[in-house]
Amino acid sequence: MRFLQSRVIKDGGRGIAALADGILGCKCAGGEGSLPRPASRSIATTCRAVMLPRFGGPEALQLRDNVEVPDLKQNEVLVRARAVSINPLDTRMRSGYGRSIFEPLLPLILGRDISGEVAAVGASVRSLTVGQEVFGALHPTAIRGTYIDYAILSEDELTQKPKSITHEEASAIPFAALTAWRALKSTARISEGQRVLVIGGGGAVGFAAIQLAVANECQVVTTCGSQSVDRSLAAGAQQAVDYTAEDIELAIKGKFDAVLDTIGGPETERIGINFLKRGGHYMTLQGEAASLADRYGLAVGLPAATAMLMKKQFQYRYSHGIEYFWTYMRADSEGLVEIRRLSEAGRFHIPVDKIFLITQVREAHEAKERKQIPGKVVLKFD
Ligand SMILES: NC(=O)c1ccc[n+]([C@@H]2O[C@H](COP(=O)([O-])OP(=O)(O)OC[C@H]3O[C@@H](n4cnc5c(N)ncnc54)[C@H](OP(=O)(O)O)[C@@H]3O)[C@@H](O)[C@H]2O)c1
Repeated sequence: MRFLQSRVIKDGGRGIAALADGILGCKCAGGEGSLPRPASRSIATTCRAVMLPRFGGPEALQLRDNVEVPDLKQNEVLVRARAVSINPLDTRMRSGYGRSIFEPLLPLILGRDISGEVAAVGASVRSLTVGQEVFGALHPTAIRGTYIDYAILSEDELTQKPKSITHEEASAIPFAALTAWRALKSTARISEGQRVLVIGGGGAVGFAAIQLAVANECQVVTTCGSQSVDRSLAAGAQQAVDYTAEDIELAIKGKFDAVLDTIGGPETERIGINFLKRGGHYMTLQGEAASLADRYGLAVGLPAATAMLMKKQFQYRYSHGIEYFWTYMRADSEGLVEIRRLSEAGRFHIPVDKIFLITQVREAHEAKERKQIPGKVVLKFD
């Protein structure tokens, strides 16, 4: 990692404050009684990152030094990473999912989630200051991800880290929780007393959805593997059906206002749609935009995906009287703050099953992909 003392960041005299005190291990000039210091501070200009120069298996990931840290835009925040979690999107992107979008942009830096400390802020950032512990997540199509010592996120993608949990625990939360938030709060607009079915409550997004629905005083039913039944019930689900042992269509009674389908296969879609009341919302996480674009190219694939989505929406409205959605994670600062509050109140968490060092990123991807570790895997920065 290289630090350049004389680098000037035009930040209007505020904002960009550096890690000089902490990282360079020295006190910069400009203390009380000295002349006012100019708007230039020392920050990292290069750092370590896990680069993806080509699509492939875990061996395609390369830990490199001297990766450039670009200047911040006005609304951006430089975050010194302490922990990042591995999402299924990371392993899928590494293997080539979304290649129609990402191939021309290689090399990529994977990673959506982050927990760390604010190292510098752009000129218009008001809600965060240097040194604060923060957590947050990048949107699904970001090409400069979080597997890097210094990640760049926009202000609305970050908030203060819950004080009660570690960086490793915090890094497991944002991407999954904001995906669940997008579905349940922004799309279905769940409210007290409604019935919510979460298909796949054993995964990170599904478990986040159970906790968000319970926090909104909904009645929650979920399907999950046997090892996740007790955890789902402890989180407040009224019923947790082991999909490996039971017929979920027989085990679950009554209709629902909202169904979040984290699996999104033809069978779970059929079951989920049939469980909805008229006017209910079905949301799948397996939208087809990227896969159709990969298959047919962006120019044909994206319009084909739009047409497919509209056709399904029309068909299900006509046949079942329900609303059908493809849900994609989006940054939502209000949602992230609410998730932090729930976490601090002890009402929201995503269990971390295994922590690797960032230098072991290949082993971590391999373990996650081979399903050797059922739950969340986190990469820790040394
Ligand atoms: N569209 C978006 O923006 C977006 C955002 C985030 C995630 N995703 C996608 O959503 C999916 C879930 O993500 P995640 O982060 O929650 O993954 P995850 O933590 O790896 O969870 C996956 C879980 O699904 C469960 N499962 C598998 N088959 C099932 C079935 N037939 N019925 C019920 N549960 C089943 C398993 O839980 P058990 O242990 O209980 O068997 C597994 O642990 C992934 O495909 C991911 O790519 C999409």
